[in-house]
Order: sequence, then structure tokens, then C-alpha cells
Amino acid sequence: MDQQHVEDDLALDQTLITEDQIQDRLAEMAAEITADYAERDILLVGVLKGAVMVMADLARSLDRHVEMDWMAISSYGSGTKSSGVVRILKDLDTDLSGRHVLIVEDIIDTGLTLSWLVANLRSRGPASVEIATLLRKPDAVQNDIAVKYVGFDIPNAFVVGYGLDYDEKYRNLRCIGTLAPHVYS
Ligand code: IMP
Repeated sequence: MDQQHVEDDLALDQTLITEDQIQDRLAEMAAEITADYAERDILLVGVLKGAVMVMADLARSLDRHVEMDWMAISSYGSGTKSSGVVRILKDLDTDLSGRHVLIVEDIIDTGLTLSWLVANLRSRGPASVEIATLLRKPDAVQNDIAVKYVGFDIPNAFVVGYGLDYDEKYRNLRCIGTLAPHVYS
């Protein structure tokens, strides 16, 4: 689904980030990552399902070899807020000892899910664990979550598209749009 869908769908408010803006920013992030990891192997760890699009495009923007692995976790919460109580639904296939892990995320809101994930991965003996996220909300900044690569700092609205869902819908929207407040408030 493309940007026109945002205009036509009454559940959506407006386009926040266009497809082109996403791709341009991912290319910049890829250049930074390439420079920072010059002499090191990278294991990209994606969190299903939201990070699928970011992983696919960020990985292809990198002009070097990377390995990719996936985790599925469920974070309990009510409505549009997560609670930080996390359960692993699918674990990594890769042994992390001595690996340079770069977690690829779609969005960080409170950062509760990510804090849990970082602690979990660090306990497996990796050489390093860093985070790359396409989107970051103000609470994550306030909670001082250390994120090395951030695509866009966005306002505190509920956003969908480019992997992000509301009730499992809109993941296949090419841009990022805001959900109309009447839908979830
Ligand atoms: P956190 O633990 O509060 O940082 O929440 C992170 C997770 O909540 C993300 O990985 C998303 O799955 C979900 N989430 C948070 N904000 C949004 C949003 O605006 N749109 C869609 N999903 C969101």
C-alpha cells in the first residue's frame, strides 16, 4: 500500500515519513554502521514482526557482508502501550559468544521491551551489543535508553506502516502514517 492509502483511510490521520525519506535515512545509517564496524563482523538481530521491513532495507543498504537472525518476543500490554513483561516466542539460531550484535528495531517507545532484550542478549557473552532503530518516541529519550543509531525522533503519536501494525493491519504500508486518535482513544 502506498501513501495514497493514508489519504483515503479514515482510520489514518496523516503521513509522517514518506517512503523516500525512510530510504534516504536508512542509507545514511548504513554508511555510519559501515564506518563503525570496519574491521568487525556484524550479526543483525531483527525482532519480529515489526522490524522485517527495516531489516530488509537496512541490510541491503549495507555494502558489506552481514549475518541476520531473528527473534520473536511478545510484550504484554494493554491497547497501545507495552508493559516490559516479555516472553520469547522464537529464539535466535545463532550462538552469540564473541559476536558483534546489532539489534535492528522498528520503534522504541518506552524502551521497556528493548531494555529486556539487551539484558537477555548481553547474558549470552557477545563481544558487543548495539541498537539501530528506525523510529524513537520521546519516552525512550526521557528513559535514557542508549541507542547508537536512530532514524527519526518522532512525536508521541501511534504510528503504523513499514512493518508497524495496529491490530495486525498496515504493516505493508510503504510510508509511516499516524493513526487517527479516535481509533484508539
Ligand atoms: P516499548 O517497550 O514501549 O519501547 O514498545 C516497543 C514495542 O511496542 C514496539 O516494538 C512496537 O511493537 C510497539 N509500539 C510502540 N509504539 C508503537 C507505535 O506507535 N506503533 C506501532 N507499534 C508500536
